[in-house]
Amino acid sequence: MPRKRVLSGVQPTGALHLGNWLGAIRNWVELQKTHETFFCVVDLHAITVPHDPATLAENTLSTAAQYMACGIDPKISSIFIQSHIAAHSELCWLLNCVTPLNWMERMIQFKEKAIKHGDNVSVGLLDYPVLMAADILLYDADLVPVGEDQKQHLELARDIAQQRINSKFGVLDKPLLKVPEPLIIKEGAKVMSLSNGRNKMSKSDPNEGSRIALLDPPDLIKKKIKRAKTDPKIGLEFDNPSRPEAENLLSLFSLMSGIDKKTAAEKCSEMGWGTFKPLLTDATIAALEPIQNRYKELIQKPEELNQVLADGRATAEEVAQSTLDRIKAAVGLLKKI
Ligand code: TYM
Repeated sequence: MPRKRVLSGVQPTGALHLGNWLGAIRNWVELQKTHETFFCVVDLHAITVPHDPATLAENTLSTAAQYMACGIDPKISSIFIQSHIAAHSELCWLLNCVTPLNWMERMIQFKEKAIKHGDNVSVGLLDYPVLMAADILLYDADLVPVGEDQKQHLELARDIAQQRINSKFGVLDKPLLKVPEPLIIKEGAKVMSLSNGRNKMSKSDPNEGSRIALLDPPDLIKKKIKRAKTDPKIGLEFDNPSRPEAENLLSLFSLMSGIDKKTAAEKCSEMGWGTFKPLLTDATIAALEPIQNRYKELIQKPEELNQVLADGRATAEEVAQSTLDRIKAAVGLLKKI
């Protein structure tokens, strides 16, 4: 039996944070043991909002190094850069031509980002979910491990595959594209901001103190947790909707220390914030230390990193090209000779 396929990616838009790790990358590390895994750095997505060209390439390489520092093993997973495989952009175009515009206008992330960027909203930002669908569908991925915020984009990828490609251009018993399933693991699927427990932790929040980056040094982690928003109540608890900060920081404590939720809740049920915060700080620093140490080694060897990316690209490109050829033929494009 061939192993099931997994594809996922992160944008190189700045330092990866606890949300990216807990919601996505940490789960990739487990999946690579049992699945055929493809992990890309989605640099073409990173340019859908205004970006700094001087730092994009460096951030792209750094993101790949962070994948490896978190435990993605290039011997068993293909790690590659999205823009290195032209098939991503090409399939995106083919999918654009069959995706109704009103499906795109419904996308929550587009609406949120469009408000932020005002007159500067690019066509690329509207098209972001179709490029993401192309990323996934090119690899006939069975599973796509992501955080909660990507659920709607995954549904769109499924709808495009099923309703716009398979049903229009395929034959019933032989679908052209695999319809992927999202894999959203509840624990860590939605890590919230340190400055407001009702907002998602995000790379684009202008307040750096709202997130902990995987590469933040210990003193900065301490400072950020010290300043994290709290509430006037003593004792941390889950499932109290009026206390989103308690919910978020207690979940982080459970995830960072590897203690299950019930035990963490019991341990902290009568604890004041002044006692709790140092515990969370120590657990976070300890959890990130091995990642930071591995990262420091990896980033000093750019030739090795580039070799990993070249190998990853070669494996990925073969799969991507064969899917692209299949779809081009199905929509009736003249074959190149
Ligand atoms: P990005 O870079 O915004 O996020 C990368 C991954 O991190 C997850 N994530 C979170 N999880 C929990 N809590 C948070 N606060 C949090 N913030 C981010 C995201 O859900 C995501 O899994 N559109 C994708 C990138 C992408 C992609 C793909 C993913 C492009 N093509 C194909 C999968 C398959 C994204 O959200 O990037």
